[in-house]
Amino acid sequence: AGGAAIDEYNDPMPDNVVDICKSSDAILLGAVGGPKWDNLTGYMRPESGLLKIRKELSAFANLRPVTVPPSLAENSPLRPESVSGLDLLTVRELTGGIYFGQPVGERGEGPKKQAWNTMIYSVEEVERVARVAFEWARKRSNKVTSVDKANVLNVSRLWRDTVKTLHETEYSDVELDHMYIDNAAMQMVINPRQFDVILTGNIFGDILSDASATLGGSLGLLPSASVGGKVGLFEPVHGSAPDIAGENKSNPLAMMLSSAMMLDTLNESEGANDIRLAINKILEAGYRSCDLWREGNILSSTSELGCLVSNAIEN
Ligand code: IPM
Ligand code: MG
Repeated sequence: AGGAAIDEYNDPMPDNVVDICKSSDAILLGAVGGPKWDNLTGYMRPESGLLKIRKELSAFANLRPVTVPPSLAENSPLRPESVSGLDLLTVRELTGGIYFGQPVGERGEGPKKQAWNTMIYSVEEVERVARVAFEWARKRSNKVTSVDKANVLNVSRLWRDTVKTLHETEYSDVELDHMYIDNAAMQMVINPRQFDVILTGNIFGDILSDASATLGGSLGLLPSASVGGKVGLFEPVHGSAPDIAGENKSNPLAMMLSSAMMLDTLNESEGANDIRLAINKILEAGYRSCDLWREGNILSSTSELGCLVSNAIEN
């Protein structure tokens, strides 16, 4: 997938790879880009391989959980007391919206050149992802915040009306509120603990989930699960970090937490919990990769963290 597949097959997501993915129980996916492929355009970009596999697997609901155990609160850019114990889940729509809407195009030349994308949702698309958010809320703190831009965009008014109707007819036991994306971004920084489940569209979710990831100090901590189809796709939210590639410095925890989410959906919850407990244990003991390191922590390489986690699991 991505850069590696471009080099080998001249295609960021070859059809035979898609077939293999579709006949698997789950997909664990690493980051896909790098400077070597930055000048490619259109379908040949590594990112479009990612979009293709999400779409092909019908993985329309992207779950991005953020927890900040007390041991990490000191690493947050926010005050420790604002984030300690935080536990929020972003449910991002992943196979629609402006990422996939037609028409897409460009025309003209020079200063008059134009380019456009289309932000489009159907009632059906909103309903199915909203359902995922409400179901998760019931298993958590029973609150959904639906994020949109309904004061400006038609597509957001449809989003909001659809979420409201579904709430009234099937999920009135869940607390629901609506927030504009600009306000939600501000609230994420002022008082992130007000959120339980955030439900939002593809591009707003892309932006908000990165912001939420930094609450625990680093994007290197955020796992994700993309579900909805028969086969789930599990990937860390961070990119390929080309600036530190090959230096044994990157934070492996988001990838490990993604594999825990994978085990959860494969009914291997015991294994999933082992991974999470092991990670919490080594964080509590002060081990940190360089993205998280602060005075008083123990600076650890990628492979050291790997050994620490697997030893903690064995013990
Ligand atoms: C993410 C990433 C992707 C996205 C990119 C790499 C296409 O930012 O998973 O959040 O925008 O969805
Ligand atoms: Mg992103």
